[in-house]
Amino acid sequence: MINSKVEKALNEQVEKEGYSSSLYLAMASWAEVKGMPGIAAWLYVQSDEERMHMLKIIKFVNERGGKAVVPAFKQPAADFPSVKAMFEDVLKHEQFISASINDIVAVCIAEKDYTTQQWLQWFVNEQIEEETNAMQILDKIKLLGDGSLYLFDRDIMTLRQEAGAAE
Ligand SMILES: [Fe+2]
Ligand SMILES: [Fe+2]
Repeated sequence: MINSKVEKALNEQVEKEGYSSSLYLAMASWAEVKGMPGIAAWLYVQSDEERMHMLKIIKFVNERGGKAVVPAFKQPAADFPSVKAMFEDVLKHEQFISASINDIVAVCIAEKDYTTQQWLQWFVNEQIEEETNAMQILDKIKLLGDGSLYLFDRDIMTLRQEAGAAE
């Protein structure tokens, strides 16, 4: 049976992963409307991945004898000031999620739930990748400058494939 404090922390993470999915979906929609199909495609895939993270936690909680509860998700912004500002938000959000995962690891250790602690290692590693991806994208945007977003839009999906291949 899952420890109740760990269960509570994981249910809070369900909300955070679900909100991440909505946030990236909102960003994808914005980029699509703005005529940047590559950036939109990257964000749609990212949104799907966040939903997968949410599902992974829901299934774990339920399999461990707890009860996953699907919460309401707050509405993300509909507009973003620029592509660069948007990806700065992506990085900040991923750093927030990393801190949140680390907090759950700390709860597991305090509660001596080493099974869940070990299971969470997948998320710890995933967050390293997520932050690295966001930083690499921001580096590219800074190099290209605002005038060359066409090329960035064309190439952004290859960044994802490279990151995937490096796993
Ligand atoms: Fe996630
Ligand atoms: Fe993420």
